Amino acid sequence: MDRRIVIVGFMGCGKTTVAQTLARELGCGMIDLDSFITERGGRSPAEIIEHEGELSFREIETRALDDVLEKGDARVIALGGGAWTIAANRALIAQHGCSSVWLDAPFELCWERITANPKTIRPLAPNRERARKLHESRRVSYVLAQLRVDAAKGLAEIVDEITRSIS
Ligand code: S3P
Repeated sequence: MDRRIVIVGFMGCGKTTVAQTLARELGCGMIDLDSFITERGGRSPAEIIEHEGELSFREIETRALDDVLEKGDARVIALGGGAWTIAANRALIAQHGCSSVWLDAPFELCWERITANPKTIRPLAPNRERARKLHESRRVSYVLAQLRVDAAKGLAEIVDEITRSIS
């Protein structure tokens, strides 16, 4: 099987859209970890975080990632914004020989998208200041991805950059 590609980055950086377009380009399957969690457990990550707390969600998230990597056949995987910041998840991704791509989006772009749809609840970014601090503190993890792509570029250019770097 071709190397799998894991898309990481902050909330609102465009992980799902890029993963969908990349998968279409490569003619392969794509899975969004947050959607997988929602479909399997009947609750969204936001609902789990709000009712059980972030720690509980992280355990569910790691189990879901493990299952996707062990049993899933999707070649492109979009993570939730916090998944890559957990060392155990990065270790799983490395063990499975996946390529990791960081969509590096400036905070303003992320915040614009986070606030664009008030129906999409993001409990870990309840206000601008909390979101900005999280965006800043997570860079030390995101920088560990194998490829960094400027997420402020156009979608076609982003996908092209990823396909060229993995071929
Ligand atoms: C989270 C990001 C969310 C979702 C959950 C936690 C995070 O995914 O997994 O609310 O910790 O950054 P998106 O990055 O798709 O919004």
